Amino acid sequence: MDIGAAMRVAGVIAVLTHENRPAMAGSDKAWKDDVAPEEGSPFRPLYDDKIMFSGQPIALVLAEEWETARYAASLVDIEYDKQAFVTDLHQQRDQAFVVKKPEKPHGDADKAFAAATVRHEAEYFIPTEHHNPMELFASTVTWDGGGKLTVYDKTQGVQNVQRYLCSVFDRKPEELRVISPYVGGAFGAGLRPQYQVVLATLGALALQRSVRLVLTRQQMYGLGYRPATIERLKLGAKSDGTLEALSHEAIAVTSQFEEFSRNDTGWAALLYKSANAKYVHRLARLDLPTSSDMRAPGAATGVYALECAMDELAVALKLDPVELRLRCYSDKDQNEDIPYTSKALRECYRQGAEAFGWSRRQAEPRSMRDGGDLVGWGMATGVWEALQMPAAARIVLTANGHAEISCAASDIGTGTYTIMAQVAADTLGLPIENITIRLGDSTMPQAPVEGGSWMAASASHAVAAVAEEVRIELLALAKKLKNSPLADAKLEDVALADGRLVSKRDASRAVSIADMMREGAVERIEKEKTNSFAADKSHARNTHSAVFAEVKVDEQLGVVRVTRIVSAVAAGRILNAKTAHSQIMGSVVWGIGMALHEETVFDHRFGRIMNANIAEYHVPVNADVHDIKVIFVDEPDSLVNPMGIKGLGEIGIVGVAAAVANAVYHATGKRIRDLPITLDKLQS
Ligand code: MOS
Repeated sequence: MDIGAAMRVAGVIAVLTHENRPAMAGSDKAWKDDVAPEEGSPFRPLYDDKIMFSGQPIALVLAEEWETARYAASLVDIEYDKQAFVTDLHQQRDQAFVVKKPEKPHGDADKAFAAATVRHEAEYFIPTEHHNPMELFASTVTWDGGGKLTVYDKTQGVQNVQRYLCSVFDRKPEELRVISPYVGGAFGAGLRPQYQVVLATLGALALQRSVRLVLTRQQMYGLGYRPATIERLKLGAKSDGTLEALSHEAIAVTSQFEEFSRNDTGWAALLYKSANAKYVHRLARLDLPTSSDMRAPGAATGVYALECAMDELAVALKLDPVELRLRCYSDKDQNEDIPYTSKALRECYRQGAEAFGWSRRQAEPRSMRDGGDLVGWGMATGVWEALQMPAAARIVLTANGHAEISCAASDIGTGTYTIMAQVAADTLGLPIENITIRLGDSTMPQAPVEGGSWMAASASHAVAAVAEEVRIELLALAKKLKNSPLADAKLEDVALADGRLVSKRDASRAVSIADMMREGAVERIEKEKTNSFAADKSHARNTHSAVFAEVKVDEQLGVVRVTRIVSAVAAGRILNAKTAHSQIMGSVVWGIGMALHEETVFDHRFGRIMNANIAEYHVPVNADVHDIKVIFVDEPDSLVNPMGIKGLGEIGIVGVAAAVANAVYHATGKRIRDLPITLDKLQS
């Protein structure tokens, strides 16, 4: 590497490479962030002279101005030794290795399939997709003196980034603070610390001054991605539509150096009863960055294939697709043979079908028209997890009746600030204007990464838990008052409401929070607590949806428009109708993109991405999105967790691409199993 010409550019301060960078940790363990794959060796930017993928950063140019740095970077002269590589999943599928998966087979799926009256077997393909949040990955590291650093980062988990950077750069936690109060989209791309935060920190340490690093849109394609996946489904049924055999095999992409995988195949056993079932999950190693989580990882891909296969089976059985799903409906998680805490999926089918007008569907493909357009109606099921994680919150209640709640959680645009304020107002009995929520700072109480749709339940329960501590403290204070109306009240007898501590037995016995704090000369009450929940494995915890799609296909040109979508979602208690609706609507839009637009295109001769920009990487725009109706099906659930919250971040995308693909089949009679369904595939 010759950095001479770059260094001679006026305004360039340094060019860092693997040869001259400051020290970084040497062990794989030190580079494992909280959500790194268990197996493998995490990527280390500027670590050595090995190049693992196109788009890998190999030098960092630091300059007074960003434009200067960009120009100087173009002058770095590099010689490469070329080695053999492969970036095409299809070329590598036979080398894929089996990943240990939890789903247990039952019965003999191969034998049952061979003997089944009606069979469907097919392979589905989902191409590589990139997250492409509008906000680029960027890190600003301020040099605070005394070896201290403050890192402003785009991330879904400030404490994950903090632990990671401290480990890589051998810092104490108090020496390195990570802040990320707002995130302009992430969708899973911000779960793991990305390489720009390492490089920005490296630069700050090398220069002992503040450094900002913003990736270009093209560089964003050197990060993780939804892995291209081949899904093979085999369904065997009796003529009445009950399943005899279900087999789901997936082959997904990982890098040469880490084994990233998510559960693609196990969803079938959550949704459909089958006497015999078998699941196989393989990984193929390609010369690419490690694949990563992208909204509903595993389910978005696996359930796409499953739900298209179910549609094809319904056609073979001459059964309505909703009816087939009802005949196979499982009230149990068959992987673990346990019931659900709640499962209102039947109601999703019913309410979704009714709102869509499904009963007016003519079964025969190409039988519905609107002028020159073929009209297609398709549907699919969605399923996701309802998880919760340990999280803590701090409440500072001041004598003016104001409460500030802090937690290290991120809000990635999902509405975390809003719902936490609601839960705090509710549990503290204060008006919502009196609540301030602070998030996204590693010095705040512990939080998991914001992902997996678990933050609403996790953070809400942390807030409720610490609000309980505040109530205990306030009752103690109330009892100390002269002639206290709550002198002999027990904790379970009092509630916080309307800025007062009130007896539940006699509402006239109440004390204003502000009054008692003033009288007791207590300026502030500060409490911190971690949520807690029993490790109960006796029930399955899932969210569900039924998605109905209408497409209109121009018969001459093959242009597909998704004219209507109805998504009926069962996800426990909905905390905020507006943010919940936005979550599902955004997911549905992405599902339309998955069905019709999104594809990272490679030139496998060079191992390079051909559309590393958002001009040629297609996503749905306004003109592609028409009528979206979101229905929340009532789903009271006292078992999933005390507040009945299941989370909504990911369920909305699952099933959408399949519903659209099934609608395209119904419109055209053509079954396109390789996403995206572009007009060249429809017209061939
Ligand atoms: Mo989500 S893919 O867990 O950010």
